[in-house]
Amino acid sequence: MYINHSFHLSHYSTLQNDSRLITEIQRAINDEYSAILCYKELAKMAPTQEERQHILEIRKDEKRHFEAFHQIYMSLTGTSPTLTQTEECKSTYRAGTLVAFKDEQETVDFYLDIADKSQNPFIQATFQRAAADEQNHAVWFLFFLTNPHKNHTARRTSF
Ligand SMILES: [Fe+2]
Ligand SMILES: [Fe+2]
Repeated sequence: MYINHSFHLSHYSTLQNDSRLITEIQRAINDEYSAILCYKELAKMAPTQEERQHILEIRKDEKRHFEAFHQIYMSLTGTSPTLTQTEECKSTYRAGTLVAFKDEQETVDFYLDIADKSQNPFIQATFQRAAADEQNHAVWFLFFLTNPHKNHTARRTSF
């Protein structure tokens, strides 16, 4: 689904001076980096194999986003981005899922904003596509929150 061909910055030289866009892409990279780390932990805490599998699929998308943004950052700046975990991973499944839902939902707007600011069709397409993925992720996390899996102990005591 991703556009894998590389693009040439020389065609978009005005971007080289757009430090604000670069700062935002750096932030997007760190957000993806943090999600990749935290979703690994969240998947381990998932109450069912099905939810764990969904979270690992979402994590795969975040890895693709990370790689695409990393490539864009390198092309714009000629240097590697600094990787920093932007927030600590939550220690419970419920708290982690809630934060994930909010982060995903907020990221949709953040990425569409980056796409709007950029004049580069490759950057626009990459961030628009990522925004659509994040919207999909947000819906999954909301589903996990609103349909909590009943644990086996609770089910047993009802008999
Ligand atoms: Fe992402
Ligand atoms: Fe996401």
